[in-house]
Amino acid sequence: MYEVIKEINLKTIVENFKNIQNYVGNVDVIPVIKADAYGHGAIEVAQSLISYVKSYFAVAFTQEAIELRKNNIKNNILILSRSGFDDVEDLYNYNLTPVVHDFFVLQSIIDFSKSKKCRLPIHLKFNTGMNRLGFNKSDLNHIIELYKKNKDFIDIVGVMSHFSSSESDVRITSKQIDEFEDIVNTIKSSDLDVRYYHIANSGGLLNYKNAYFNAVRAGISLYGYYPKKIEDNPINIKPAMSIKSFIISKRIVNKGEGISYGPSFIADKDMQIAIVAFGYADGLFRCMSNKFNAIVNDKICKSVGTICMDMFAIDVSDVEARVGDEVIIMGESKNCKIDADDLARFASTINYEILTNIGKSLRTKKVYI
Ligand SMILES: Cc1ncc(COP(=O)(O)O)c(C=O)c1O
Repeated sequence: MYEVIKEINLKTIVENFKNIQNYVGNVDVIPVIKADAYGHGAIEVAQSLISYVKSYFAVAFTQEAIELRKNNIKNNILILSRSGFDDVEDLYNYNLTPVVHDFFVLQSIIDFSKSKKCRLPIHLKFNTGMNRLGFNKSDLNHIIELYKKNKDFIDIVGVMSHFSSSESDVRITSKQIDEFEDIVNTIKSSDLDVRYYHIANSGGLLNYKNAYFNAVRAGISLYGYYPKKIEDNPINIKPAMSIKSFIISKRIVNKGEGISYGPSFIADKDMQIAIVAFGYADGLFRCMSNKFNAIVNDKICKSVGTICMDMFAIDVSDVEARVGDEVIIMGESKNCKIDADDLARFASTINYEILTNIGKSLRTKKVYI
């Protein structure tokens, strides 16, 4: 079959989850499956993890959670960032747990619960140094007072924060852990009966055992990557997504001739050039032109010329290559491997953006293995 596919190995994702769980020990692992599970398919990933998840799946906003509910995902779902505005009725109807990070949202949830005479579960988010979302430690007394007055209407099930630099800066991260620990201790000595405390993302769970509290939120590691490329593989995780396409044309380009738009590449010898069906509309970044590689018949081939919307060119002068042959843009063959970290380096970005960008292209079929 001549196809352009994102091949997603759900068994690898399940193995990654189990290995993360082994690595962190006796704390709950919350799989972060926002942004369509970082491009891997939120519904399929959730379905494959259903029986392993003890506490929550985490998504970014309410609509992502509703999609999961509509596909029969019955586990608890935590909504990390965008909820509690005009969607409180949905939170109630679909039994979802919002992360509340602002008094505006807290009040709107209390008002709704009063009108319905219900008690909505929430997690509270505290800012410990990221300075993006979350209450400050100085808000704590006010929150505790508010809770005492409204305890029939809100159930504070969890308290959380988020790291800014857990993959890169020990000083900042340690300060965040200390700040969070202070908040946790104050809450534990109050009336609040909170079940979950969590701050660690993949970098946090990898590097800071003292940041586990009783749950960790695993995003990028679930999909087989570390937040920043490291040489060893302490958690024993593997990339779960491969991108495969095929050669749609092949030609000789003579020395001195240009290839593709611009042209940004001039042949410095007579070259065999293959044209591959995959372009920036499929999730490559145009700034990777003339930098990235692809695998053809177990050989690494350099990309040449400007990436187009639907295709790119590679130098196959030293490889047996025919029209129709498979091209691995991300993934492995017997002796070669290209991963999202490699592609990220060529685009001056991070593996997260490569996965979500390639993942969201509707032009590439997802194939689950
Ligand atoms: C609040 C929150 N928690 C956890 C994660 C997961 O982070 P990572 O993918 O680094 O594990 C994210 C991801 O952006 C997040 O926003």
